[in-house]
Amino acid sequence: APKEILKGKKVLVTAGGTREAIDPVRYLTNRSSGKMGYAMAETAVAMGAQVILVSAPTNLQNPPGVRKIAVESAQEMREAVLDLYDNVDIVIKAAAVADYRPAQEQKQKIKKKDETLSLELVKNPDILAELGRHKKHQCLVGFAAETHNLEKYAKNKVFSKNLDFLVANDVTAPGAGFSVDTNIVTLFDKHGQREDFPIMTKKEVAQEIWKRIAQSWHKQ
Ligand code: C5P
Repeated sequence: APKEILKGKKVLVTAGGTREAIDPVRYLTNRSSGKMGYAMAETAVAMGAQVILVSAPTNLQNPPGVRKIAVESAQEMREAVLDLYDNVDIVIKAAAVADYRPAQEQKQKIKKKDETLSLELVKNPDILAELGRHKKHQCLVGFAAETHNLEKYAKNKVFSKNLDFLVANDVTAPGAGFSVDTNIVTLFDKHGQREDFPIMTKKEVAQEIWKRIAQSWHKQ
């Protein structure tokens, strides 16, 4: 990896799948492993950046040289990220943030009773969209897991969330998406440019993305 291309940069990475509490023993979550975000954090350190990782629960080791802040829910992640936002140069939002959370967190364990049970959900704040609305000097990078209409949804997200880059992947493709060590990504930028990458390890994907981000400053 090209060393030092991120020297002097402060990077905030979010990773993992948020946990939304139902009651004291249960939660809703998703299939995110955190691997892509951790690879982005580890690679940024190797390229000379100062890195803070706001992580929802994962089974991964904290990458050496990274300051980690552990969170569980989307709301906790939002608070941690907004606190840090003004003091960072680049935000990589690789976390899989739950779109909805239980309307109420029950203080006692829900007991087994009727044949059916419904759970009311309410929308979580979209952290990345909020960062986009308050963007000053920061470079904002989103991740999107899609199952269909990749280009249409990706381009719309770059625009609607005010992003500099969006890394999109079709999670149904073999060798891409959740839990696996490889990924097949397409990078979209704010100018509408699209770049398709071949299958690579998540670490190689991270190196390519960081190179594109660093290049974009020199073009300005
Ligand atoms: O809209 P979608 O969830 O596909 O967008 C993906 C991007 O938005 C990811 O970078 C994710 O971390 C971020 N996001 C967020 N808050 C949400 C939902 C998504 O920050 N509530």
